[in-house]
Amino acid sequence: MADIKVLALVGSLRAASINRQLAELAAEAAPEGVTVTVYDGLGDLPFYNEDLDTEDAPAAVVALRAAAAEADAALVVTPEYNGSIPGVLKNAIDWLSRPYGSGALKDKPLAVIGAALGQYGGVWAHDETRKSFGIAGPRVIESVKLSLPGTALDGKHPRENAEVAAAVRDVVGKLAAEVS
Ligand SMILES: Cc1cc2nc3c(=O)[nH]c(=O)nc-3n(C[C@H](O)[C@H](O)[C@H](O)COP(=O)(O)O)c2cc1C
Repeated sequence: MADIKVLALVGSLRAASINRQLAELAAEAAPEGVTVTVYDGLGDLPFYNEDLDTEDAPAAVVALRAAAAEADAALVVTPEYNGSIPGVLKNAIDWLSRPYGSGALKDKPLAVIGAALGQYGGVWAHDETRKSFGIAGPRVIESVKLSLPGTALDGKHPRENAEVAAAVRDVVGKLAAEVS
């Protein structure tokens, strides 16, 4: 049977992003039969503009929608910015929400995880990402979650923390199990 394909969308563009590292860990730790691909192009998307959302949409938009169409599920890995969703991620949600009613992630399972330095681990951003994606079309899996505070990582790469690595592997497995 073909692998279950999970598209990982990262809400930080920073080269040393903890959230990108978590997404990479998800790719490394994915159970057998599951392939996680970390998407690279969110920073290339223009701000959502209905005037651009035509048959001639920008290449970065076409690429994102094609990657989403290829995927069986999506894993969002994001920090929190000022108590909410980073703009780059919200912009991606808006592009993926169109065409209205038939976006490329429609009805596909989607889970939200991430790390933030605050004591609550970015839970506000994670809740709002679930809310927004829930309106945008995917089937948000509320029960699959992980919000890691800075203290959980201790400045080390998440792959060096066995507990975090196991939690991320568990998330990927549970998300993949939602693919019908
Ligand atoms: C603009 C900005 C706003 C931030 N706001 C929050 C916040 O509301 N809550 C929080 O826990 N951390 C906040 N932080 C700290 C981030 O959690 C921290 O920079 C984290 O490492 C960002 O994720 P990344 O490593 O994946 O880039 C903020 C950081 C930036 C740059």
